[in-house]
Amino acid sequence: VLVSGGGTNLQAIIDRIADGSLSKVRIVGVIASRPGTVAEQRAVRADIPVKIVCRKDAPDLAAYDRAVIAALSDWNPELIVLAGFLNLLGPAVVATWRNRIINVHPSLIPSFCGPGYYGIRPHEAVLASGVRVTGATVHIVNEEYDQGPIILQKAVTVHADDTPQTLQLRVMQEAEQVILPKAIALFAAGRIQIEDRKAIILGGTEND
Ligand code: GAR
Repeated sequence: VLVSGGGTNLQAIIDRIADGSLSKVRIVGVIASRPGTVAEQRAVRADIPVKIVCRKDAPDLAAYDRAVIAALSDWNPELIVLAGFLNLLGPAVVATWRNRIINVHPSLIPSFCGPGYYGIRPHEAVLASGVRVTGATVHIVNEEYDQGPIILQKAVTVHADDTPQTLQLRVMQEAEQVILPKAIALFAAGRIQIEDRKAIILGGTEND
């Protein structure tokens, strides 16, 4: 699991493993993009090994890519989960784990996504636009920001009195923390099949 900040999505995965709803899943390690994050504390508390790999320690994206690959290779994960990870992974990482990297994004892709839309910013843009519905998306990571095949989405209603912070909290709690563990369970069950630009869920989803 790759993290950059508060680690509430990481915590949701830890909790679902602990309560047995995410079975046959183990977090082999956490990579944080900087030292001193709350996400790191959450991993340590759950006895999960943590490595710090900083983008600014690498002279360019290729060197950063090599550092991430080296850190990941020690653990040899079957699935890489970007849980609030705010760096762009380089092409070598994406190619090495093709269709085995997933990301949770705090909007309904293809709205409010792409470069610059991270953290609180999608929620600010949602409120500025006047849309009535937002939500979260879990998708496969490819070489472009927020462009890979969509696995799961969950909608959240925008309230007239929302601030970016109240909306962010509701999207996290009602959408992200629900669909990210679900997507991991689908992957673990071998139920995600990629065809062209689409992710097919074998056996369907509860929305079908
Ligand atoms: C989450 O809202 C996540 O969707 C978002 O950052 C937040 C991290 O929260 N990710 C992105 O914006 C990626 N484009 P967390 O660290 O508490 O899980």
